Amino acid sequence: MSMLLTASGLHAGYGRAEVLHGLNIEARAGQVITVIGPNGAGKSTLLGALIGAIASTGQVLFDNRSMQLRTLEDRVMAGLALVPETRALFATMSVQDNLVLGGFRRRRLGAKRAEQAQDLERAYALFPRLKERRSQLAGTLSGGERQMLAVARALMGRPSLLMLDEPSLGLAPRVVQDIFRTIVDLRATGVTILLVEQNARAALEIADHGYVLEMGEFVLEGPAGELAKDARVIETYLGTGKKKPS
Ligand SMILES: Nc1ncnc2c1ncn2[C@@H]1O[C@H](COP(=O)(O)OP(=O)(O)O)[C@@H](O)[C@H]1O
Ligand SMILES: [Mg+2]
Repeated sequence: MSMLLTASGLHAGYGRAEVLHGLNIEARAGQVITVIGPNGAGKSTLLGALIGAIASTGQVLFDNRSMQLRTLEDRVMAGLALVPETRALFATMSVQDNLVLGGFRRRRLGAKRAEQAQDLERAYALFPRLKERRSQLAGTLSGGERQMLAVARALMGRPSLLMLDEPSLGLAPRVVQDIFRTIVDLRATGVTILLVEQNARAALEIADHGYVLEMGEFVLEGPAGELAKDARVIETYLGTGKKKPS
């Protein structure tokens, strides 16, 4: 029931060019929150600001602690994780080594070897394909497998908020379905998810709450089911541009 993340009056950008013009966003613990919006709206900038990779002003409360003066590393240690659009895998390392590296937060928090082995098994249980390919170099995986590995690696740190930047980008529809099903499974395990997507249809189908970002401002916000029925959302993000016959 409680809010895991509350950002208010968030401004961020690059040099003098402001991209986010004072956003307010909340993520309730255990929910999937989605931010949809067109290319260039500022979705990636928002995630970068929340994790501390991009300088911002405003308030970011995470787990009842202010993050604003904290470094990216501090925020990761506090339980934030980001799977960037680029996936940022270590291409010349094996699947398993990528996963082991993802566990650094847990190691630093004092996790025992046995617990880390458990985390690895948990990742493989979630993504059996990765287990089959544990020795394969990450750079030789398919697009869908790379996305799975990026998500699995982030989960190795047992974050409380997992932020996903366009996980469906460049993937075949069937693979997108798999990824979104995994997000639903993850929510059931208690992880809170902030999902940024251009694929509004898929995102609103699984999310609890949604925000529509346009040119650095939220123009709409509400329960995902209501957003999916909003005439403007349908017209701009879900429909064919024509009014749906009723
Ligand atoms: N590193 C950067 N330097 C300067 N401008 C950037 C940089 N990254 C993104 N931008 C600009 O910020 C705006 C928002 O980009 P972005 O957050 O990537 O949008 P989205 O993820 O919604 O596609 C765009 O106008 C983009 O050109
Ligand atoms: Mg982006």
